[in-house]
Amino acid sequence: MRQVWRNCHAATMAGGRYSAIERAAILTRDELIEWIGPEDALPHADGAAVHDLGGAWVTPGLIDCHTHLVFGGDRSREFEQRLQGVDYASIAAQGGGIASTVRATRAAREDELYDGARRRALQLLRDGVTTLEVKSGYGLDLASERKMLRVARRLGQALPLTVRATFLGAHALPPEYEGRADDYVGEVCRMLPVLAAEGLVDAVDAFCEHLAFSPAQVERVFLAARQYGLPVKLHAEQLSSQHGATLAARYGALSADHLEYLTESDVLAMARAGTVAVLLPGAFYALRETQLPPVGLLRQHGVPIAISSDLNPGTSPALSLRLMLSMACTLFRLTPEEALAGATLHAARALGLQASHGSLEAGKVADFVAWEVGHPAELAYWIGGDLPRRVVRHAALAHVTAAR
Ligand code: NIG
Ligand code: FE
Repeated sequence: MRQVWRNCHAATMAGGRYSAIERAAILTRDELIEWIGPEDALPHADGAAVHDLGGAWVTPGLIDCHTHLVFGGDRSREFEQRLQGVDYASIAAQGGGIASTVRATRAAREDELYDGARRRALQLLRDGVTTLEVKSGYGLDLASERKMLRVARRLGQALPLTVRATFLGAHALPPEYEGRADDYVGEVCRMLPVLAAEGLVDAVDAFCEHLAFSPAQVERVFLAARQYGLPVKLHAEQLSSQHGATLAARYGALSADHLEYLTESDVLAMARAGTVAVLLPGAFYALRETQLPPVGLLRQHGVPIAISSDLNPGTSPALSLRLMLSMACTLFRLTPEEALAGATLHAARALGLQASHGSLEAGKVADFVAWEVGHPAELAYWIGGDLPRRVVRHAALAHVTAAR
């Protein structure tokens, strides 16, 4: 079926950077963009349904490329502790932090996890997200990791969202492996092919940090991923410099994420490998971090910068990707155009979806949002709230309130 979406302006991101067409129109055929350009050059499309977008600004559907949105329980008490001055590492050392979410996630039934995750996914979708990455990593045993990844797959089937599932078995050391981190890494490497064979894994991630796994341990996970043909990504340089990002780049990682403690040599390694820098202002904000990611060096060496919510119950209970754009500008000094490219174009690359998603170009999927704003910078300008918009996924309006 062909459809015309006219009377709009388009922030297309065509050609690998922020770019815009004023007085634009889009022609879609089935789920794909067939043509996009100035409305006065619109090709004839006899019989096509016509949608008048009323002068809206159209952007690619937003892509949240780093989330932990499947989890049990919540960590609001830990939030109170942190406000009283107890830091993230000390909470983790006392059995709180990730370990407390692991207990709640293991105890939850799959349907309970699904209901909570669905509610959060719908909030993101209402705010313009059409593609979402979901990590495991709060199960840390085969059955519980499987349960989380199955929830991720179900979300992709039930909601008008493209969902990518990432296996994050090496997120934290489960209590039953206390003092035996290397043994647990072996277990992660054994879980991986089982979950991959069940079709539950699109990529493999790990947490490289003094309170999680060493670069040598992460490398064992990456070798296993390579053996099964799966791309890797990494939580790197969040709390300290471990040169995890350099290791990730050596394995051709899709992305290295967080990066507050990234060094120039890490940046150069990422630039050579084409690894995307995923910045997570929600976690920076919630942890009251003061070390800024080296945005100037990333720009200077041409490393693509993506922005994501890191939606998780501990360090970033963030339910709006648009709010993250605002924070990326105010906290990290990105321009609104860079922030928008970071939640579309570069986020697609961070998921390996750059051939089909992330920009408005002929041949790509017709995932877009028509925002009733005067300029795309408004997406990063408003702090929260609800912007009038229509979310279109695969060339169909996503009626998010009715979505099941
Ligand atoms: O991306 N850095 C490690 N993982 C998460 C935090 C998860 C948690 O605290 O539950 C993150 O910030
Ligand atoms: Fe994370």
